[in-house]
Amino acid sequence: MNPQELLERLRWRYATKKFDPARKLDAETWATLEQTLLLSPSSYGLQPWKFLVIDDRALREALLPLTWNQRQVVDASHYVVLAARKGIEPRDVERWIGRLAEVRGAPRESLAGYEKAMTSFVVKPPAHVVLDDWTARQAYIALGFAMESAALLGVDTCAMEGLEPAKYDALLGLEGRGYRTICALALGYRAADDRNATNPKARFALGDVVEHL
Ligand SMILES: Cc1cc2nc3c(=O)[nH]c(=O)nc-3n(C[C@H](O)[C@H](O)[C@H](O)COP(=O)(O)O)c2cc1C
Repeated sequence: MNPQELLERLRWRYATKKFDPARKLDAETWATLEQTLLLSPSSYGLQPWKFLVIDDRALREALLPLTWNQRQVVDASHYVVLAARKGIEPRDVERWIGRLAEVRGAPRESLAGYEKAMTSFVVKPPAHVVLDDWTARQAYIALGFAMESAALLGVDTCAMEGLEPAKYDALLGLEGRGYRTICALALGYRAADDRNATNPKARFALGDVVEHL
């Protein structure tokens, strides 16, 4: 892909308001997009998230009123709720270190310095860090990764923040599991008559946003 093609894909992407309910992502495309969530980077690599793919139609219907009645919830081919770890703690670090040692085939002790640094971060975060905000920010990285990847594959998306997180948590059984709803992502294909598709892309001028120092 050349730079022009990349920009074309990104200009093609827009917040899809009306999905074609009849068009579904094929299994390979969906499996690939799940991998993009998995491959998203996170601070320290801690992956303080869960991605709940709502396959159940009745559950999707139940989420509709909790999502400001935005139809993307029920019309999109796929709907993913991005949840972040609530109250991250040393055992999250331990779990991650265990996995890292396993994947790298390295003795746990060789990761002791890394574990110590992460543990002290979660036990006593720097003054500017509020841990539950920090974990939520990680979830948005995954959101962006999946959205851009989808655009590159010609899949439409709409990020969804217009929802009631506490009610999502209750319905999805997140309460008591140590995770909380941050946002969601609808994926599928635009309806032919989605008026938002033809709206010109509106952004500030590049120079108003990007500064070279
Ligand atoms: C985190 C986030 C949450 C959003 N929540 C909603 C939403 O609940 N419903 C909706 O229709 N659009 C939602 N949007 C879409 C934005 O309104 C849209 O991305 C923005 O206006 C820019 O337009 P574009 O994506 O078409 O370029 C959300 C976007 C982001 C990034």
